[in-house]
Amino acid sequence: MEQYVIETRGLTKEFNKFAAVKDLNLRVPKGALYGFLGPNGAGKSTTIRLLLGLIRPTKGTVHLFNQDLTKHRLEILSRVGSLVETPSYYEHLTAYENLEITRKILQLPKKEIDKALEIVKLSKWKNQKVKHFSSGMKQRLGIAQSLMGNRELLLLDEPTNGLDPAGVREIRELIISLPEMMNATVLISSHILNEVELIADHVGIIHRGKLLFQGTLAELKARGRGEIIIKANPLHQAAEFLKRKGYAVAIKKDSD
Ligand SMILES: Nc1ncnc2c1ncn2[C@@H]1O[C@H](COP(=O)(O)OP(=O)(O)OP(=O)(O)O)[C@@H](O)[C@H]1O
Ligand SMILES: [Mg+2]
Repeated sequence: MEQYVIETRGLTKEFNKFAAVKDLNLRVPKGALYGFLGPNGAGKSTTIRLLLGLIRPTKGTVHLFNQDLTKHRLEILSRVGSLVETPSYYEHLTAYENLEITRKILQLPKKEIDKALEIVKLSKWKNQKVKHFSSGMKQRLGIAQSLMGNRELLLLDEPTNGLDPAGVREIRELIISLPEMMNATVLISSHILNEVELIADHVGIIHRGKLLFQGTLAELKARGRGEIIIKANPLHQAAEFLKRKGYAVAIKKDSD
């Protein structure tokens, strides 16, 4: 049986009778890089807030690591890192000094700072002030902050939003490396299909609060291939004609 790090059942969030998230059954397997795809206003951030216990569901449940979030909240959340809004850092401090603040709050050993800097590839710049960083570097620092303390699950809400193309590439490469480097499960939300295709191995598509698809990227791609069934006589001549027009043709035996 597959082990799920995130499992929601009938998860629903209403704001004044408006359902931002409806009856969501998310299943994120352990070790997955799960792309949570949906247009603006689809309910991605609301879902991530529910997963972090920042807001309460109207209906349904959240299980992380097979434990009920409402019953084991603090224990569960100590294993989860997140980047929900633009990360907060002090521009006049260095990357290292910024992470030192996080380290103190979380009461982690000093070595955690260098480890996090190494993962996001900022070690070389650790003594530079953040105000001199590019947007991509700032976002990498935000991710470093969120993963400090051996997080087993990372929830990143649109981590490439607002970055220039170079920044987007940097973050993309970093995210792809995370499951292996940290032995973690990663969920990233995005409104860009192409980005999810480039990064994720599992995909959930949310639209107007409802999950329209969930599965592997390969399953999604297979589904995307439309098929038109044509009955023709003479069959082979019709097939040849369509092939010449550039269609992929398969001849199937008549089923009726
Ligand atoms: N606190 C709130 N009160 C009322 N409505 C809300 C609240 N939070 C979110 N909504 C509404 O719920 C819907 C889903 O919002 P959400 O922020 O989850 O979408 P999203 O997929 O993250 O979109 P985006 O891509 O713009 O970030 C939207 O219609 C939004 O206006
Ligand atoms: Mg959002």
